[in-house]
Amino acid sequence: MTKIGILEGSLRRASLSRAAARAAAGLVPDGVEAVLLPNPGSLPLFNQDILDDGMPDAVAAMIAAVEAVDALLIVTPEYNWSIPGGLKNAIDWVSRVNPNPLERKPVAIWSVSPGLLGGARVHESLRQTLHSQGTVIMAKPEVQIGVAKSKVDVEAGTITHADTEAFLRGHLTAFDAFCKSGNRA
Ligand code: FNR
Repeated sequence: MTKIGILEGSLRRASLSRAAARAAAGLVPDGVEAVLLPNPGSLPLFNQDILDDGMPDAVAAMIAAVEAVDALLIVTPEYNWSIPGGLKNAIDWVSRVNPNPLERKPVAIWSVSPGLLGGARVHESLRQTLHSQGTVIMAKPEVQIGVAKSKVDVEAGTITHADTEAFLRGHLTAFDAFCKSGNRA
């Protein structure tokens, strides 16, 4: 059984990417459990002083949630060609504990955008940051959900475009195999 934690990159209620993240939990193959991690909006802005004064409960909950899963699926928009600040903040918080739960953790990335490129550029930004943590990133197949307003139902948290849904199912099956593969260790 592979347990995948889904980490959202958007904080807003009517988010396209959060809808895709919720949908992902229902698209995993047999033998995979997917759980939504706490939203990055639950965390304070990283400040070493806060950590020195004692770990906030919300940070402890995020770290425990990351520790409890075998792998991460990050589902995120692209902000200004890069990582949304809330998501980067969450990674920064988790990176400050020892042992670092991101180390050797398999990660897959879905970017989501109303634009044509599907947030393609956030992949490289995330890979750079995640490589610094020793995560093991599944580089291919890449998932960029472009023109997302026509492909997700924000209210229902579902994928409404059949070809996209089939592609995402296949991606999650490939990610499960990647997680089980000895090549990643
Ligand atoms: C954006 N958006 C955006 N889209 C994109 O494809 N590439 C980009 O670089 C950016 N940059 C950007 C910066 C900021 C600050 C905002 C608020 C938005 C548009 C973005 O994709 C769109 O608002 C999405 O709907 C945001 O994702 P969620 O919240 O719907 O998941």
